[in-house]
Amino acid sequence: MKKLLATLSIAALALLPQVAGAQTYPERTITMVVPFSAGGPTDTVARLVAEAMSRELGQQIIVENVGGAGGTVGAARVAQAAPDGYTLLLHHIGMATSATLYRKLPYNPLESFEYAGLVTEVPMTIIARPDFPADDLQGLIAYLKEHKDDVTYANAGIGAASHLCGMLFMSEIETQLTTVPYQGTGPAMTDLLGGQVDVMCDQTTNTTSQIQAGAVKAYAVTSPERLEQLPDLPTAAEGGLASMQFGIWHGLYAPKGTDPAIMERLSQALKVALKDKNVVERFAALATKPEPEENATPQALKAKLESEIARWKPLIEAAGVYAD
Ligand code: MLT
Repeated sequence: MKKLLATLSIAALALLPQVAGAQTYPERTITMVVPFSAGGPTDTVARLVAEAMSRELGQQIIVENVGGAGGTVGAARVAQAAPDGYTLLLHHIGMATSATLYRKLPYNPLESFEYAGLVTEVPMTIIARPDFPADDLQGLIAYLKEHKDDVTYANAGIGAASHLCGMLFMSEIETQLTTVPYQGTGPAMTDLLGGQVDVMCDQTTNTTSQIQAGAVKAYAVTSPERLEQLPDLPTAAEGGLASMQFGIWHGLYAPKGTDPAIMERLSQALKVALKDKNVVERFAALATKPEPEENATPQALKAKLESEIARWKPLIEAAGVYAD
């Protein structure tokens, strides 16, 4: 009996640091990894959410941009980080599509992470450099078909939202364009504005202000209805591409094994952040909105990830586009 009590007390003592950690979490700066370059749509969402969560948690959250391979390098970094609540990942639909696109991923989206909650779902816009010789979606499609060998399409690598949109678009118009991969659509936008690359499909969190300023040509938005922030931009369905209707959902993750009490604390802070006045206003200016409270939960994010992996798998396999 004494031996059993001794064993139990040793086991309990071993757990003390974790229990104490969860109860006093967070005690130091938290890192939020964005798996794309600074200045792009994912980075924009992350910095707004991180700032509001910092206030709620009482600890600084610094955003670290870890680009490469369509977001999978940054996701792998977090999958391999210590499960102590001090390394988080803000990532989007790429967590689901990469599960099929990459046959040798260094992590499993459904086994390597804990889930804090859904963050926002952002529409995509098909845009071109400002002097591109097409003035509507049908004109763009006609030009791309005729000049496909002379047109370049920018994305943030296989697994990026910009890659997914491009894959669907090229499949729809049965035309393959030369793709130029970037570490994020922030730098890709710079080259589009400068005319170094021709066409891109990117999220309104990166394109709204450029479209409103007339700095790029805009042809379609992938939302079911026109956006109040871009009332003159037709939907893809209006332009004849009814299948191009989808949004880029984002989630907040931590490494597998992170204490459930810490995940609950993060989920609560995320819920508060998504109601923050600045977050709501800035998201609205970028033609998106925060997820409702009932979606900022571990269960909602995991369910979304599972359903989206299943949704995109057959489409990706039909397109025959793989990263490795
Ligand atoms: C993407 O294309 O997946 C992202 O928009 C890239 C980024 O956030 O820079």
